[in-house]
Amino acid sequence: MRKEKLILLILLVGILLVFVEARYLHSGILSKKPFAWGSTITLPLMALACLFGFGKSRPLRTAAIVLFVVGGLSGLVGTYFHTDGLKLSRITMLAGTKPEKEENKEGRVERREESEERENASGEKKEEEEPPPPLVALSVTGLALLGLVLLWPEKPGANEA
Ligand code: HEM
Repeated sequence: MRKEKLILLILLVGILLVFVEARYLHSGILSKKPFAWGSTITLPLMALACLFGFGKSRPLRTAAIVLFVVGGLSGLVGTYFHTDGLKLSRITMLAGTKPEKEENKEGRVERREESEERENASGEKKEEEEPPPPLVALSVTGLALLGLVLLWPEKPGANEA
């Protein structure tokens, strides 16, 4: 098996694994948040693109490139939603800590201890709703880029030097 085919096979397996994980993790929100269908639709399309890439047919390989572009863009759209519109405060894992300040129900930003004190005092029960992991959708874009690099047509003689 040529190296390109082997990498394509590994990419296919990776895409299918991310699909299974994303399908499971989004299952509770698909009816409420239509954009969450993004990964459920585009990851199988990217898997199809890998299958197209195994053959030599020029039109199918071109279709595969288009599908990888669509998949890559869907990962960027996903990142937009996962970070609530690219809010820097949502990319907290880069700092290695949970945010010190958070938005309360009225949209006012308050310190974490402040909000906890207020909830304890009023007997309000804190909703344990975790926000989506902020950067995970970029993995879809990364996989799509790998597919693009693999299938992008080489100029004749590009490897001769
Ligand atoms: C094409 C890429 C993706 C798109 C378009 C997408 C889209 C979305 C959207 C619209 C939401 C709702 C955000 C909100 O609360 O407003 C969401 C939530 C979420 N996503 Fe994604 N996503 C993508 C990739 C992924 C991947 C690869 C994973 C993990 C394997 C993932 C895991 C999650 C989780 C855990 C949530 C929170 C679910 C919940 O609240 O129950 N997403 N996604």
